[in-house]
Amino acid sequence: MDTIILGIESSCDDTSAAVLKNGVLLSSVIASQAVHEAYGGVVPELASRAHQQNIVPVVHEALKRAGVCKEQLSAVAFTRGPGLMGSLLVGVSFAKGFARALGIPMIDVNHLQGHVLAHFIKESEDDNRQPRFPFLCLLVSGGNSQIIRVNAYNRMEVLGQTIDDAAGEAIDKCSKVMGLGYPGGPVIDRLARQGNPLAYTFSKPHTPGLDYSFSGLKTSFLYSLRDWLKDDPDFVAHHQEDLAASLEKTVVDILMDKLRKAVKATGIREVAVAGGVSANTGLRNAFHEHAAKYGWNIFIPKFGYTTDNAAMIGITGHFKYQDKDFCTIDQPAYSRVSL
Ligand code: KG4
Repeated sequence: MDTIILGIESSCDDTSAAVLKNGVLLSSVIASQAVHEAYGGVVPELASRAHQQNIVPVVHEALKRAGVCKEQLSAVAFTRGPGLMGSLLVGVSFAKGFARALGIPMIDVNHLQGHVLAHFIKESEDDNRQPRFPFLCLLVSGGNSQIIRVNAYNRMEVLGQTIDDAAGEAIDKCSKVMGLGYPGGPVIDRLARQGNPLAYTFSKPHTPGLDYSFSGLKTSFLYSLRDWLKDDPDFVAHHQEDLAASLEKTVVDILMDKLRKAVKATGIREVAVAGGVSANTGLRNAFHEHAAKYGWNIFIPKFGYTTDNAAMIGITGHFKYQDKDFCTIDQPAYSRVSL
């Protein structure tokens, strides 16, 4: 019998629904919220209200595109956390109500686990390029920077993580002080392609083990910029490509340095990257260079599966469904949780 999972994601500012049949993606719909651009960051209350407006049409559209009616669903998988509480509550409440009304199981998904398992989304039956266990996954987003040892779908071990800001957060803040708007990542990426990555140097952290730190880079960038602006008030406009390229290079160097150490320490050369920052061209290039130089077998997600999406929640739900790992209706959303 077919397993058809509806995945729902609403942890931050994307309302998303996806339908998977036996682990193969049938549809994926994402409604992003442009309302936050004017504020230079996600405004939680506005995000929550936009989710309320979007959730029903997004789910309706996902089912329609999949050619599946709700009575055919086997289970509803939803992001339970971590994320913004007001945003999570919309998806969690909808998913629970929908599953209860249909009399089918509900499956709670850890958003971070979803990002890692995005590598197992199949777009067709013969789409079989997936990492083998155990593999390492660099999870880099606006809220996380972690190196994870993935032993199985449901067994993940955090080997190192940021002790302060996440990589995406640092990029977004630096982009904000340059006046480039929110989210900064895609803009920095675009500008960096035309700039000199060696034009400027910013401070790099000396954290022990496999942990990251990005707050020092943020401060170093801010103070350097302040000094340069004293001499030339239009410094950013004159040098934005070089600034972006140098910032991107610093972030990528910091990320890859610890990842190389993790590969050396574990002996695992099956290496994946996930999360919003994995869309970055410089980071993707660095992965390809490491594959060529050190013989890593690398896994880079398609762009659509880097930022928040329900397909990754659906595939995680698919694996949990096979284990009959369901949740009860009284399980609350959680804003903070690790893997
Ligand atoms: O995973 P995600 O959609 O949301 C969470 O934080 O959970 O990641 C968003 C982050 C933002 O910081 C955004 O600026 C960054 O991913 N990002 C990028 C790029 N695209 C998105 N950073 C660098 N280069 C990009 N192309």
